[in-house]
Amino acid sequence: MTNEKVAGVDGLVKDFRVPGGRTLRAVDGVSLSIGRGETLGLVGESGSGKSTLARLMIRLERPTAGRIEFEGADITGLRGAALRRRVRRRMAMVFQSASTSLNPYQRIGDALAEPLRTHRAGDAASRRTSVAAMMERVGLDPSFAGRYPHELSGGQRQRVGIARALMLDPSLIIADEPTASLDVSVQAQVVNLLQDLQGDLGLSYLFITHDLGLVRHLAHRVAVMYLGRVVEVGDTARLFAEPLHPYAATLVSMRRDAEHRIVPSGDIPSPVDRPSGCVFRSRCPIARDRCATDVPPLQETAPGRLVACHYPGDLSPGGADAHAHAPAAPPLAAPTLT
Ligand SMILES: Nc1ncnc2c1ncn2[C@@H]1O[C@H](COP(=O)(O)OP(=O)(O)OP(=O)(O)O)[C@@H](O)[C@H]1O
Ligand SMILES: [Mg+2]
Repeated sequence: MTNEKVAGVDGLVKDFRVPGGRTLRAVDGVSLSIGRGETLGLVGESGSGKSTLARLMIRLERPTAGRIEFEGADITGLRGAALRRRVRRRMAMVFQSASTSLNPYQRIGDALAEPLRTHRAGDAASRRTSVAAMMERVGLDPSFAGRYPHELSGGQRQRVGIARALMLDPSLIIADEPTASLDVSVQAQVVNLLQDLQGDLGLSYLFITHDLGLVRHLAHRVAVMYLGRVVEVGDTARLFAEPLHPYAATLVSMRRDAEHRIVPSGDIPSPVDRPSGCVFRSRCPIARDRCATDVPPLQETAPGRLVACHYPGDLSPGGADAHAHAPAAPPLAAPTLT
């Protein structure tokens, strides 16, 4: 891993129009970067905007505001041939379920050759060779090229999903819950494969997951999202040992025994009716008056550590490794986080 940046977003905003003429801000001023060869883990509750951020980065959605940079170029407004050349060839997505992203009527070999055909890479014979080599690389027998998706197991299908993402030799893979629908043993194989590929090919990953154990295992850095905003970014080990944002502290504490958990009060607010000031304040155990009026900017509190909180560290439980420490705040009633 180097310090060279492969991709970044700056002040990224995505608004969706929703019924009733209202606006839902799914992504609210997100700035992040991913280094070459780095895995950035992206975590946060359901609806916090992780997939929308991913879709913006890979330009499947157009941002309402902000800038997206990839391999040194501004890709925010690219269209047509430039978008295909600069983004579609160099950035790829792996989805939660390869069953839904693969065409059930297309043989595996054809599905893998398709990105090459679309981008007019090579002739039919060289494409077949590339497909066979890629199948071997991801641990699939090349004879599977003639099979249909339903003839494969879930883990094999996800290997096809990964192979398809790699066909055009990308530098950045966006993996959105890539192992969520797999059995635990198969999950580990797929994660190992992703890590091997990263080592061999120098890939960068944006890895979206609800599984904090997985993030801890494979991410170099972690970004925590809540209601469209990134509330904390940091080196994985340090963030888990000492989360500084109260929301990150509650997430990390969920991995501990019940006695040491910090449970945020109340329900997650509606994204069309988000709290003023700090978006987490309606559930934050340490919120004060200022949190309702002033939006806390994402600021560097230590080298490489960014936190969007007026009182960073005040709810740090000492992290998942410090079971001896009691949480800073008393356990709250009404555990509603599911
Ligand atoms: N096309 C759309 N139109 C309207 N609202 C949308 C659209 N896509 C996403 N949203 C809303 O934007 C918010 C963020 O959604 P998103 O799918 O990015 O969350 P997420 O963090 O990926 O959640 P999950 O963990 O459940 O996958 C949600 O409130 C969602 O309902
Ligand atoms: Mg999602």
